[in-house]
Amino acid sequence: MELKDVYYQYPGGEWALKGINLRLEKGKKVAILGPNGAGKSTLLLHLIGILKPKKGAVYFDGSRVEYTKAFLKRLRQKVGLVFQDPDTQMFAGSVFQEVAFGPLNLGLEEQEVRNRVLKALEVMGIEDLKHRPAHFLSYGQKKKVTIASVLAMSPEVLVFDEPTAYLDPKSSAELVEIMEKLYLSGKQIVISTHDVDLAFSFADWIVVMKDGRVLAQGSPVEIFTDKDIISESGLEMPLIVKISTLLKKKGLLKGTFPRNFEQLASKLENDGGD
Ligand SMILES: Nc1ncnc2c1ncn2[C@@H]1O[C@H](COP(=O)(O)OP(=O)(O)O)[C@@H](O)[C@H]1O
Ligand SMILES: [Mg+2]
Repeated sequence: MELKDVYYQYPGGEWALKGINLRLEKGKKVAILGPNGAGKSTLLLHLIGILKPKKGAVYFDGSRVEYTKAFLKRLRQKVGLVFQDPDTQMFAGSVFQEVAFGPLNLGLEEQEVRNRVLKALEVMGIEDLKHRPAHFLSYGQKKKVTIASVLAMSPEVLVFDEPTAYLDPKSSAELVEIMEKLYLSGKQIVISTHDVDLAFSFADWIVVMKDGRVLAQGSPVEIFTDKDIISESGLEMPLIVKISTLLKKKGLLKGTFPRNFEQLASKLENDGGD
């Protein structure tokens, strides 16, 4: 996916995107990282054609996105967006109906719809909820249902807007594990987040946004060892980077930065080396 010189202004509002040039490569877990109001959600809505640039263009697989019903229908089979708030994505129905809605709209055979729904519920570990009314579920369960709805469309790219927002630590860790699993099964994953710890441990590529612009992009270590980027973006250092930097100063840690606590622990077991 690619955005070329994309500008967007909400009706009567400020410019939320101010000239975005960005190429999201296949085979990488990408995090769009930035504070509230940076333009992350606005950018993601452009990836599935819900918003149309006022200037510039969006490309998918080399073709320029057209804002016709037919083009958008095809695009949304390939790119699925999981909204930050599950309630914006749900209507009233059982969990099964909720997840079946998209595939039914594609005009698939009933058996195929059934298979896709059951598979998606299984991936999310919520088969037991299938007859439950979706609007009575907990926040974390609703989140899983909306992800299952997107999975049932079999998209190539999964886009998550602030995937761990409002989730408790356990549900949050569970969701990260699910995203890893989906990535390993061949899906391209793009997330937006303001959580530097999540971006650092999860992503292979970080795009830093602020005030409707891309400030920088690079590998997690490149981004978080660049003092200029950090001060300009106003982002915090990830906890693991703070700790590792201290340990490096004390000579207890050498070589590459660990991405998470497991890696840090194993390096320390190994006298701080790789
Ligand atoms: N529906 C909207 N109407 C008007 N302005 C909006 C709307 N949604 C977002 N904005 C504005 O656009 C800018 C970018 O917002 P958003 O893309 O939601 O940022 P982020 O997801 O990074 O928090 C902000 O200044 C925000 O106030
Ligand atoms: Mg947002």
